[in-house]
Amino acid sequence: MACGTGRHTAHLHGLGHRVTGVDASPDMLARPRERLPDVDFREADLHRLPLPGDAVDTVVCALALTHVPELSPVSREFARVLRPGGHLVISDAHLLSSCLRPTLPRRPGPDGRAPLLAGYHRPLSDYLSAALPLGLQVHGCVEPWRPRGFLAPAAPDPLPTHPSWDLHHWCPEASVAALEDSPLVVVWHFRLAAT
Ligand SMILES: C[S@@+](CC[C@H](N)C(=O)[O-])C[C@H]1O[C@@H](n2cnc3c(N)ncnc32)[C@H](O)[C@@H]1O
Repeated sequence: MACGTGRHTAHLHGLGHRVTGVDASPDMLARPRERLPDVDFREADLHRLPLPGDAVDTVVCALALTHVPELSPVSREFARVLRPGGHLVISDAHLLSSCLRPTLPRRPGPDGRAPLLAGYHRPLSDYLSAALPLGLQVHGCVEPWRPRGFLAPAAPDPLPTHPSWDLHHWCPEASVAALEDSPLVVVWHFRLAAT
């Protein structure tokens, strides 16, 4: 879900799973559609998944929930399409790293066409508040750290592409110190209660 360029889709497909990739952006979908012609890709929003109920064994959603304003409606969609006993694996920007970036409103991009995605910062309890009432039970939660030395203390590019792009340009030492000592992402593994 929100498969983007299809990193996880390709991995799951390579493992032999039957995979459906969903993303709201046709530009994003163009890339995995070319790379993985035998995979079913669908253009749709996370709030209205193009799948019937009880349709899938596992939902994977990586680094996309930070773009939705409320977790509950999207979590309801995940629970709806999952079979009882199914797995939900989510990764998202960790609050301790993402708070170095501003929450951006959704607004037109420089070409006046493509909207820039908003980024919302949320505490870990928000995921539980959205998931637990739906019968999604926690099976795991990890908060990986960025590898030491991953960030250079000086920013050679005025628009670095790593997630610290806002502050990194202006105060690289401070942003490296903050990001290297904070978890970068949170990864949740939920299972839908078997009925
Ligand atoms: C940072 S990319 C992550 C892509 C991919 N999951 C990965 O980990 O490589 C975020 C993706 O979420 C998609 N996205 C954001 N909001 C969405 C929404 N409401 N419905 C569907 N896709 C959405 C974007 O189009 C983009 O492809």
